[in-house]
Amino acid sequence: MTKRSVVRGCGSYLPRQVLTNAELATRIDTSDEWIVQRTGIRQRHIAADGEFTSHLALNAAHAALADAGMDAQQIDLIVLATSTPDNTFPATAVAVQHGLGISHGAAFDLQAVCSGFIFALATADNFLRTGGYKRALVIGAETFSRILDWNDRGTCVLFGDGAGAVVLEAQEQPGKSFDRGVLTTHLRSDGRHKSKLYVDGGPSSTQTVGHLRMEGREVFKHAVGMITDVIEDAFAATGLGADDIDWFVPHQANKRIIDASAHKLHIAPRKVVLTVDLHGNTSAASIPLALSVAVKDGRIKKGDLVLLEAMGGGFTWGSALVRW
Ligand code: ACO
Repeated sequence: MTKRSVVRGCGSYLPRQVLTNAELATRIDTSDEWIVQRTGIRQRHIAADGEFTSHLALNAAHAALADAGMDAQQIDLIVLATSTPDNTFPATAVAVQHGLGISHGAAFDLQAVCSGFIFALATADNFLRTGGYKRALVIGAETFSRILDWNDRGTCVLFGDGAGAVVLEAQEQPGKSFDRGVLTTHLRSDGRHKSKLYVDGGPSSTQTVGHLRMEGREVFKHAVGMITDVIEDAFAATGLGADDIDWFVPHQANKRIIDASAHKLHIAPRKVVLTVDLHGNTSAASIPLALSVAVKDGRIKKGDLVLLEAMGGGFTWGSALVRW
């Protein structure tokens, strides 16, 4: 027998306001056709004034707990992935913890940009498997609309706001590849690429929040190779392969990157969960948002093998294989 982090529930939250490509085209020199063709994005959600990352995260956490049929008091670990915290400190996770009415256990933020959810999942999984904690909320929550340069058409059309969460529980499993739970996680980073996708401000450097800057072509050039590489690591570690996958739930940055990665890995298009058209790139929130959509519409079911991957600023990248 071995301890595994089993997914007990999943939930998400999107701000009410929807910003379509057509509306963007009235503000900057762009078009629905250009955005759809290059990225697959048709619309994104934008947080309201006074609606913070912690508010989105708390709503997603409530939805995940309801899906799990659990009370917040049963949670003893909160790992929240975000690059757009409410404040420089304290961690947005403690605002969520407080909002849930919990004052036991631990809550902290983790920052790996678009790979944040995979990094948070791996971190929580390690804590649960080593026995330090019993039940974790793993959250990805972002308000990227707050760090965009709305005059830069090369970046502002790509991102959106939202949050998603999963509840993990430590459970004894047989120790086989058919176990339920997180079967393997693989994390990578390479700081040589840190200036290809970054925010040009921060407390220690400029004492400002700054705006997102990106060399889009450079990111694109590296994305597919890094993604497929770290997925091959997950396959090698488990003896599982593309044919075993029921659902591929990638970070939702760009449809072209997702399609090219699935193609290279020989994953059938019908197994790919796509939400980038409706959500845009919500960074650390994109995977749990997509998971939540596919669970709600009945695609992802108990026992399904789900492949997750992400790549983003740093660069950071990672993969996870989870049996639902
Ligand atoms: N609308 C219309 N034209 C635009 C827009 C826009 N929104 N943005 C840029 N252009 C123009 C450029 O000005 C340029 O015009 P020019 O030829 O007259 O100079 C032309 O389109 C081509 O610009 P490129 O930046 O070279 O366009 P490209 O084909 O590379 O597409 C894009 C840009 C979509 C950003 C692409 O590089 C990409 O998808 N990169 C991956 C980046 C990504 O997904 N990042 C997300 C964060 S990282 C992650 O999550 C993995």
